[in-house]
Amino acid sequence: MKILTSLPELRRNLRNVSGSLGLVPTMGSLHEGHLSLVRTARKQNDYVAVSIFVNPIQFGPEEDLNIYPWNHDHDLGILESEKVDFVWIPDTKEVYPDGYQTYVTVDKLSSHLEGARRPGHMRGVATIVTKLLIVFIPDRLYLGQKDAQQSCIIKRLVVDLGFTMDVIICPTVRDSDGVALSSRNIHLNSVERNAAVVLYRSLCESQDAFSNGESDAGRLRTIIADVLCSEPLAQPLYVSVAGIDTLQELQHVSDTALCSIAVKIGSVVLIDNIVLEDS
Ligand code: PAF
Repeated sequence: MKILTSLPELRRNLRNVSGSLGLVPTMGSLHEGHLSLVRTARKQNDYVAVSIFVNPIQFGPEEDLNIYPWNHDHDLGILESEKVDFVWIPDTKEVYPDGYQTYVTVDKLSSHLEGARRPGHMRGVATIVTKLLIVFIPDRLYLGQKDAQQSCIIKRLVVDLGFTMDVIICPTVRDSDGVALSSRNIHLNSVERNAAVVLYRSLCESQDAFSNGESDAGRLRTIIADVLCSEPLAQPLYVSVAGIDTLQELQHVSDTALCSIAVKIGSVVLIDNIVLEDS
């Protein structure tokens, strides 16, 4: 496994790649969710690259950039055992040189959900992922369904900017009690961690209601909100039932919809989602 830091070094190494390349972009603090992306990439490509970069421009001034958990030795040990070929750990100054002012904005899709809650966040994500795609030019890019809006925006920018790689969205990885894996979970104390089961439970209730014939999006939102409010430690920030490609709120769900939620538990904001399916 080659651990590369500078851009010229990375470019030199990528020039020797003869075969398909899969890219898994990360901010480190790797957990089983990331590893499922790496393992899928390993199966589908000749070479696998992982980037580890805590991207400052996707964090707001009040957000947790400085407490973002970060343990390179742990991450590199895991990636080595997953037989990753290249790990890129760039320096912030090389990614964003002094005077930096070039950004990628995916307009409408960024105005909903996390984009609305965290101004500038989706622009930061779209910008760094575009830069990664330009540097790596992978054949396949791997993202998680857990960050559904991010995945939707990146799929859009790949089409809009004429990139040719496939964007592979891998399912959310959950603990046995249904809590979606997230680097933020380590900030929950044990009581809060128990309370976090309410997120997935609320989403499952909306799937049950949909399977039993409920197609009114407003009522589905209420079902989710009621379950969330039954947990005293949970403070819902939004409950959305929206089109899976447009992210626009629906009035009526015909065949499918993205149900997504953001919930504050203690001082930690957790997000989760499911895609409603006819069953
Ligand atoms: O999902 C993440 O970890 C980040 O948003 C990403 C895609 C690596 C961009 O910084």
